[in-house]
Amino acid sequence: SQNVYILGIESSCDDTSASILCNGHVLSNVVASQKIHEQYGGVVPELASRAHQQNIVPVVDQAIKQANINKSDLSAIAFTRGPGLMGSLLVGTSFAKSLALSLEIPLIDVNHMQAHILAHFIDEEDFDKPEFPFLALTISGGHTQIVKVTDHFDMEIIGETIDDAVGEAFDKSAKILGLPYPGGPLIDKHAQSGNPKAFPFTKPRVDGLNFSFSGLKTAVLYFVQKQVKENPDFIKENLEDVCASIQYTIINILIDKLKKASKETGIKTIAIGGGVSANSGIRKSLKEGEHKYGWKTFVPKFEYTTDNAAMIGIVGYLKYLKRDFTDMSIVAKARIKF
Ligand code: KG4
Ligand code: ZN
Repeated sequence: SQNVYILGIESSCDDTSASILCNGHVLSNVVASQKIHEQYGGVVPELASRAHQQNIVPVVDQAIKQANINKSDLSAIAFTRGPGLMGSLLVGTSFAKSLALSLEIPLIDVNHMQAHILAHFIDEEDFDKPEFPFLALTISGGHTQIVKVTDHFDMEIIGETIDDAVGEAFDKSAKILGLPYPGGPLIDKHAQSGNPKAFPFTKPRVDGLNFSFSGLKTAVLYFVQKQVKENPDFIKENLEDVCASIQYTIINILIDKLKKASKETGIKTIAIGGGVSANSGIRKSLKEGEHKYGWKTFVPKFEYTTDNAAMIGIVGYLKYLKRDFTDMSIVAKARIKF
C-alpha cells in the first residue's frame, strides 16, 4: 500500500511548529518557540500572532526538508483549529488552507486538546500506546483536564479547572518568588533539593473531578509577603523548601482527583500530556500510583508533551485513515470542546 505523508501545523499559542509524519511515524518535528514573551512574564497575544506570521513559512520549509520529502509527496495537511489564541490560530489555519488548496490535497482540522491526548499514538520505538479505555490527564499552561478516552475520537471531559490552569499555578507562583517566565521548570528544579512539607499550603475544596488553582497562587502570595516582611532574605534562604512545598501541593491536588476519577470510572490506565507532564514530581507520583493503586501509566516522549506539530500530525493521520476531511469554509475557533 502507499505511504501516507501528513504535514501537521500547530500555532495555537506561542510555538510555531510543523511536522511530517509517514504512516504515523515522525520524520520531522520543527518547533520555533517565541522568546519575545519572556520579558512580559506571559504570552502577549498580539506579539504571538506576529511571530507566527514570521515563522510559519521557514518552519514548514524546514520540516519538509528535514523529512527529506517534496511538497508534492504530501497526502494531506492537518492544522490546529482550536482551542487557543484567535490571532495565533488564524495564521496556521490560513496557511494550511492555502497550501492544501495549491497542492490540491485534503485538509484536516485538529482539536489541540485531543492532539495532546492522541500524541500517545505516535509510532515510537520504546513507547507503548495506552489501551482503551484510559484516563488522560492533560496539564499545561492553558489547560487542566481529566478526559475519559474510550476510543481515538470518543472522548469525554470528566473534570477540568474552574479557574487557573496548573501550568499557571506553577508560573504565577514562580513569578511571586522572582523567578523568570515560564517558572514551572524552575520550581521543579529547586524543588528537587527542598523539603516538600516545610510550608504547608491548604488544598482547595472543589466538588467532583474539577480543579481550582487560583487560591493556591493567592496563598503563596500572602505567605511570601508575610515572610519577607519579617525577613527580607526569606526567599533567598528558603527557595528550595518553598518550591518543594508548592509543587507538593499541586501534585497532591492532581493525584487526589486522578484517584477519584479512577475509582468512579473503574479505569486504571492513565496517560498524561501537556507541558506540565515534564514535571519530575508528577512523573514520580504517577509511578508510585502503579504500586499503590495498580495503575498503568503512560508518559509520552518529552518533545510530544509540550506544544508541537507531531501531535497534530498523528491526529491528521488517524483522521486520514477514516477519510475525515474538512472543507475550505472551516474557521479557527478560540474555544472548542471535543
Ligand atoms: O504544553 P505547554 O508547552 O504549552 C501550553 O501551555 O499549551 O505547557 C507549558 C507549561 C508552562 O506553564 C510551564 O511552566 C509548564 O508547562 N512546565 C512545567 C515544567 N515544564 C514545563 N511545570 C512544572 N514543571 C516542569 N518541569
Ligand atoms: Zn497545548
